[in-house]
Amino acid sequence: MIIIGFESSCDETAVAVVERKESGELHILSNIVSSQVPIHRKYGGVVPEIASRAHVEAISEITHRALSTAGVTVEEIDLVSVTDHPGLIGALLVAVNFAKGFALASSKPLVGVSHIRGHIAACYLAGNGEVPKPPFLALVVSGGHTSIYRVASYTEVEEIGGTRDDAMGESFDKIGRIIGIPYPAGAGFDALAAEGMRLACGKDEPSLSEFRASAAAKDPTLTLPSPALAGDTLDFSFSGLKTAAINLLHRTEQRGETIERELFAAAYTAEAVEAVAKKISLALSRYAGEGLAVAGGVAANSHLRRRLAEVAKEKGVPLFIPPLSLCGDNAAMIAAAGYYEYLAGHLADSSLSASALDDPIGT
Ligand code: KG4
Ligand code: ZN
Repeated sequence: MIIIGFESSCDETAVAVVERKESGELHILSNIVSSQVPIHRKYGGVVPEIASRAHVEAISEITHRALSTAGVTVEEIDLVSVTDHPGLIGALLVAVNFAKGFALASSKPLVGVSHIRGHIAACYLAGNGEVPKPPFLALVVSGGHTSIYRVASYTEVEEIGGTRDDAMGESFDKIGRIIGIPYPAGAGFDALAAEGMRLACGKDEPSLSEFRASAAAKDPTLTLPSPALAGDTLDFSFSGLKTAAINLLHRTEQRGETIERELFAAAYTAEAVEAVAKKISLALSRYAGEGLAVAGGVAANSHLRRRLAEVAKEKGVPLFIPPLSLCGDNAAMIAAAGYYEYLAGHLADSSLSASALDDPIGT
C-alpha cells in the first residue's frame, strides 16, 4: 500500500510518500519538507498570514517533487493522509483542501490526522530499527506541545500529562530570542547549553547530574525553578521557569553585569530536561513495563535524548526516538499515522475541515 501524506499546520510545507510493505514495515519513499524558517526569522516567530500564503505557493511543487522522488504516479497512490488539526487554521486549510482535491480527483480514500498523532507515528518509521508497539508511553515535545500520552492502540491515544501553559520548545524559542539566538532557537540553545556544561564540568558531554553537582550550577545567581509541578501529577508549567529566567536576565542587566550565556543556557536546559525526566520516570512507574517513545522538534535536543536514555535504562524499558530528520515537522509521519487511521476505518470525505484546536478527548 502506498500512502501520500500532506502537512502544513505551521511553518513547514511537507509532502511525503510512504510504502507499507508486505512485512508490515513502513518505508519512506520520499519525504520533502520546505521550511519557511528564513521567511519568519526576521519577525522572531511565525506570522500566520505569511505562513498560509507561503504554503499556497509551495504545495503543488512540493507534491510534484515528493511523487517524482518516490518514483510513484498519482494512480499508484492508495491513500491520501493530511494533518487536519491542531495548528494555525489558515495554514492547516491549505493542505486539507489540497489533499481533498487530490483524493477527489484521483478517487482515492482520504483520512484526516492529528499532528500530534503524526509526531508519535514518526517512531513507526525507524527504517531497519526497532519500532514501538502499543501499548507504550509517548512524550511529544515541540513548539506547541509538551505532553505525555499513553498510546493504548495505534489509534487510541490518551493524554496523561502535559504543560498547563507554555510548551518546552516555545520556551526555548522565547528565552533564546532574548539571549540573541535566531528563531527557532532550539538547536542553537542546545549547542550553547552543551558548551556551558562543558565549561562547568571541564569535560565534553557531562551527565546532567554531573552538571547539576558542579560549582557553576550551584551559583545562586543562576538558580531557576523546576517546571515540574509538585506532587504525583504528570503536569508541567513552563511559564514559571520562563518568567524566572527573564527576571534573572533583567536583574543581571540592571546591575550592569553580563550573563555567561553558555552557563545560563546550561542551567535553563538542566531544569527543563530534569523536569521532563522526573515526570517521565513517574509515568513509566505507573505503566510499568511499557516502552517510551519521544517525538516532536524538541526530541532533537541532545541533553533530553541523553537524559531520557538514562531514565529508560533505569526502568528497563526500550526507548524509541526518531532520527533527527523525523523529529521536526514532516509529512512522512502524517502518512504513517494516516495508515493506522485508515485501518481503523476512520475515513474522511469532501466535508473534511481543519481545526486549530486539540481534540477535547485524546489528540
Ligand atoms: O515539531 P516542531 O518542528 O514544530 C511544532 O510542531 O511545533 O518543533 C519545533 C520546535 C521549535 O520550538 C524548535 O526551537 C524546537 O522544536 N527544537 C529544539 C531543537 N531543535 C528544534 N529544541 C531544543 N533542542 C533542539 N535541538
Ligand atoms: Zn510539530
